[in-house]
Amino acid sequence: MKHFSVLLFGIFIILTSSFLGLISSSLNQLGDLKQSTESLELNESGEPILVEGDPLYPMKLSGLSEQGHMEYIQLGCVNCHSQQVRREELGKDLERGFGQRVSVPRDYIMQSNVVLGYTRLGPDLSNVGARIKDLNWHLLHLYNPQITSPGSLMPPFPFLFKTVEISETTATDSALVFPEGNPNTPKEGMAIIPTKRAIALVEYLLNLDIHYNLPEAVITKNDTGK
Ligand code: HEC
Repeated sequence: MKHFSVLLFGIFIILTSSFLGLISSSLNQLGDLKQSTESLELNESGEPILVEGDPLYPMKLSGLSEQGHMEYIQLGCVNCHSQQVRREELGKDLERGFGQRVSVPRDYIMQSNVVLGYTRLGPDLSNVGARIKDLNWHLLHLYNPQITSPGSLMPPFPFLFKTVEISETTATDSALVFPEGNPNTPKEGMAIIPTKRAIALVEYLLNLDIHYNLPEAVITKNDTGK
């Protein structure tokens, strides 16, 4: 071929420029993000000011929550739930109350696997731990979403629970507390208790909380998204 060296040079330039553009520039922008003690807060006249604070955000997940994070991936929760509060121009996430501020890259730096999600059959879960703090609610909802959210499209996960007979030797302090008259309530003398998997998963959900300020993202909305 006549201009083989020109062709090779062209291929080299295209590969190098895409590497620099896509990989190096993102690494440059985001690669050295660290936990922050600084955060933006609004002063009396409503202007954002940088304050030095404590503790470091975002925090690392505890051992149990990390186990729950793995369950979340294994059970396919990521197929229906996202974990990203979008900017106002891109959707009504803040108005819907998915979070009190938008998600930023720094929110994800301490996560072993980032589960941004790609479809939203259910609500965004970035801040669900701040929104729903009731352990029993989460357990009932996992056992059968119809108990807490009638008509829900979310599948039940009853295999994360055990039905046991109440006796002096069974530990039932973690047993599910059903609303009165609910058809799912176990028979007299029986109790439904969560397995370790369910406990870890709910611990993880309760820790999904971006209700903290970062230098680049300040909380702008209250809990109801107003
Ligand atoms: C087939 C899709 C689907 C899958 C899979 C799914 N969900 Fe859901 N989820 C939903 C829908 C729809 C809702 C809204 C109705 C409701 O509250 O049940 C929801 C609601 C929720 C809520 C309440 C959020 C809120 O703000 O009210 C939590 C928490 C939740 N899901 C956790 C999970 C977890 C954990 C898993 C995996 C074990 C999971 N979901 C799997 C569809 C799904």
